[in-house]
Amino acid sequence: MYKMSAKPMIPAEKIQARVQEIAADINNSYEFDIVLSALTGAFMFTTDLCRAMANFKHRIAFIKASSYGSGMESSGKLKVSGIDGIDIKGKRVLIVDDILDTGRTMYTLVGMLKEAGATEIKTCVLMNKEARRAVDYHADYVGFEIENEFVVGYGLDYDQDYRTLPEIWTLEEV
Ligand code: IMP
Ligand code: MG
Repeated sequence: MYKMSAKPMIPAEKIQARVQEIAADINNSYEFDIVLSALTGAFMFTTDLCRAMANFKHRIAFIKASSYGSGMESSGKLKVSGIDGIDIKGKRVLIVDDILDTGRTMYTLVGMLKEAGATEIKTCVLMNKEARRAVDYHADYVGFEIENEFVVGYGLDYDQDYRTLPEIWTLEEV
């Protein structure tokens, strides 16, 4: 059994302030044609980030990437759907995800986009769990460096729960 930590690990105001900073950083350093968001975890981060970005002449595309069956361990097998219908050839892409954990999701997505003919790819994650990295991959824009803990809220789930919370919480075993 798991329960939420007594206090949020990252309060909503802190997330929102950091989202503004990341958006400003992207505004100053990357012109792109498409935001590619990895559902479901990145849905909340993507909408807040897009509202804060100056670039409003770009497309938003969603793909579904799933590596977690149920529980806290990534299955290691990544399923990606929805990428076929997106016109990626010759485009500059910003991939947005909730968290960089083993790195397999981002590594795989970047490979798929290169294959599909993207001319430039940069990646943005709200959180980075560096200690968990299994493949050599670094995101271009990172919101928060976090410890090796399982986090929920602000889009992230545990067995599909907790996603709608505006803060980031850790889950603790009870
Ligand atoms: P990776 O492929 O191992 O980097 O896993 C990335 C994906 O696993 C993320 O897009 C999340 O959906 C999920 N994930 C990784 N760590 C957590 C966590 O602490 N809480 C909830 N989901 C997580
Ligand atoms: Mg995900």
